[in-house]
Amino acid sequence: MRAVLVSRNEDKVRELRAILAGWEIEPIGALELPEETGATFHENARAKARFGRSAVDPEAWVLGEDSGLEVEALDGRPGIYSARYGGLGATNEANVAKLLRELETVAETARAARYVCELVALSPRGDETRARGTLTGRIAGEPRGTGGFGYDPVFVPEGSRQTVAELGAEWKVEHSHRARAAHSLAEALRTARPPL
Ligand code: IMP
Repeated sequence: MRAVLVSRNEDKVRELRAILAGWEIEPIGALELPEETGATFHENARAKARFGRSAVDPEAWVLGEDSGLEVEALDGRPGIYSARYGGLGATNEANVAKLLRELETVAETARAARYVCELVALSPRGDETRARGTLTGRIAGEPRGTGGFGYDPVFVPEGSRQTVAELGAEWKVEHSHRARAAHSLAEALRTARPPL
C-alpha cells in the first residue's frame, strides 16, 4: 500500500516506515504545514491528514500522525505541546530538561506517564480511519541511552528498568505507542476492505 505521511519529524517517518514495513511511505514534511491548533492528538492528526490531501494527488492515501507525552503529576502536560514544551523550536534536550525540572520535587514512584499516538488515514475517496496507541510507564530521574528521540532517554516503560532510549529502535518497532497505533490502523483498514 502506498501512502503519503504528513510529518515534519524525520524520526517519526523513520519509525513508521520500519513499523509498516509492507507500505510505501512517502513523507511530505517539507511543505509548510499549518499551525497545530487542535485541542487533542486526534484533531491535530486529522488536520495534518486533511492538509496532506489538499497538497498531494487525489489518488493517494494520506496519513496524519500526532503524538506526545502525558505526565500524571503534571495534569497531563506536556500533552499536545510535547514538541514545543521548552519553547517554540525547542530541542529534544531542552524539552527533557524542562520536564525534569518540573518533576524535581516529585518522587520516582509518583512519576507515572504515558505516550500517546493518534493516526488518521484518509482514503482517496476521503473516508477516514482512526487509530490510537499508548505506552504506559514513568519518568526517570535522569536521561539514559542514545536510541529513539524526544523524551525516550527519560521514559521507562512499565515492566522495564531501562529507558526507551536504552531499549532501542528494534524494541520501539514492536512495542511503542506508534507501533501499537500503526498496527491497529493497518488491521482496521484490512478488515474494512470489501472482500475480493
Ligand atoms: P508532534 O510532531 O507535534 O506530534 O510532536 C511530537 C512530540 O512528542 C515529539 O517532538 C516528542 O517530543 C514527543 N514524542 C512523540 N513520540 C515520541 C516518541 O516515540 N519518543 C519520544 N518522544 C516522543
